[in-house]
This record gives sequence, structure tokens and C-alpha cells, in this order.
Amino acid sequence: MQTVHALNPLRQTVDALRGRSGGGARLALVPTMGALHEGHLTLVRRAKELADLVAVSIFVNPRQFGPNEDLDAYPRQMESDSRLLEAEGVDLLWAPDGAAMYPEGYATNISVSGVSAGLCGADRPGHFDGVATVVCKLFNQVRPDIALFGEKDWQQLAVIRRMARDLDLTQPHVDAIIGVPIVREVDGLAMSSRNAYLSPDQRRAAGQLNAAMRAAIARLGGADDAAAVMADLKAAILAAGFDSIDYAELRDANSIALLDAPGGNARLFVAARIGGTRLIDNMALR
Ligand code: PAF
Repeated sequence: MQTVHALNPLRQTVDALRGRSGGGARLALVPTMGALHEGHLTLVRRAKELADLVAVSIFVNPRQFGPNEDLDAYPRQMESDSRLLEAEGVDLLWAPDGAAMYPEGYATNISVSGVSAGLCGADRPGHFDGVATVVCKLFNQVRPDIALFGEKDWQQLAVIRRMARDLDLTQPHVDAIIGVPIVREVDGLAMSSRNAYLSPDQRRAAGQLNAAMRAAIARLGGADDAAAVMADLKAAILAAGFDSIDYAELRDANSIALLDAPGGNARLFVAARIGGTRLIDNMALR
């Protein structure tokens, strides 16, 4: 695996890797903020199935953190992350420093409307601008054929798909933005780098979030009133030990529009806080 920290060597390395593979090689990018876990490694393994070359980026993007969020505390473990990626057979690790990503005088912002409204877009103002901006830059830097993202951040995936289409970042009619299903712990907790913040008691409580969501989905499939089910879901999350709920809502999976009843393409989205940690999860209604 080649590790690169600056833009010029990145371009040379990508060209050399593509050249060495005969020119027609497909390159997959897995963008991450590091603190890698099984969820990220699942993205890498899927990328290897879909492409000839795999690049992973690690960059803790300050522009997607709000002023009172966990930018400073966000886990940074480049050495162990690098070893994990090497063991997975990743070809290229793109690990720019802050100045390589946002040089002095940087002044451009990408804002995607529509799908970024509501849910995390409402609770974390500016978050999706930061995500869209850095992902657009990563695409322009690495120039992959495809890119893979976890479905845990479902709204993020919708924002990135919209941006890629609107800005012609990918080939027309090619499904180049690939969502990979959530990887869960044994008790159903969605894997996240932020799970490392949880104390043992908080971790036990967090494990009940997904069970509460599954119970709500089972009821939504029956004759129960959706408003009552959602109220019971919120009560169950708080009873499990969460301190507050940012949202527990049904939304259309593609447009992210709010739904007041289950139907067609509905998905259940939850964000809840325990201690200082904000956890998110989402599931299809079937
Ligand atoms: O999902 C993440 O880890 C980040 O939001 C991403 C896509 C790498 C952009 O910084």
C-alpha cells in the first residue's frame, strides 16, 4: 500500500497505479475519517469486489463539525488504521493534512438543498455543506470510477448522490455512488467510530436502540397508528437510558421528505444522545 499526504504525489501515484494495471483498471474510493472499524473494512472488501484498485482516504474534516461538536475529541489512530488497510490489500491511502485539503485562502463551499433538509441537516447546521465540499474535493483529487459509503449515514449518501449527479462528478447512467448496508454489533448497535466514546453502561443502553426500532417497524407493518408507534418508540429509547432524542421520524428513503405514515419507500431514522455521544441509525420498513 502506498501512503500519500500531498496532492502532487497523489496524482502521480494514481496515474502509476492505473498505468501498472494496463490503463483500463477501475479505481474505487472509500472516503473515511479514520478510526476504522469493521464497518469501514466491509466497505473496503466490497470495493475490492467491484474494482481493480482501491484507494481509502482518511481525513478528519473540520468543515463538517459544528462549533460545539467533537472535532478535537474525534479519535485519530493513523498507525493502526494504516496497518488494517495494508492487511486488507488496499492499494493507496490518501491522508492529506489540513493545509493540503484547505490551503490558505480556501473560500469555496458546496451546499446541496432538498435532501439535506431535516434530520441531521436540521440538528447539525452546515454539516452537509462540509461533507459535500470535502467529498467533492476527494472525488476531484483521486478521480475514482466508483465510491463507497456506509448506509448508516443514509442522509449523507442521499446528499452525495444528489451532488454527484448535479455537478457531473460521475459518468452519466453509471451507478458510481455505492451504498453498503450497515454493519452491526451482536446486539444490533450500528458500528460507528463514536461508539468508542461510550462507557460500559452507556454501551449496554445503546444496544437497545436498534431493538426498539425493530419493534416499532414490526408494529408499523400492522394496523397500529403510526403516531402512537413513534411516540412509544421515543419512550422506549429514553427508557433504555438515552438522555434525549434529536429525531425519530419516518422519511422517504430517496427524497428524505417527512412521512406521517408508513408506505412505499418509507425508512425509519433515529438520532439520540447518551452522555455526550450522539448516535444515529436507520432501517427500511418492510
Ligand atoms: O462518513 C464519513 O466518514 C465522512 O462524513 C466522509 C464521507 C468521509 C466525509 O468526511
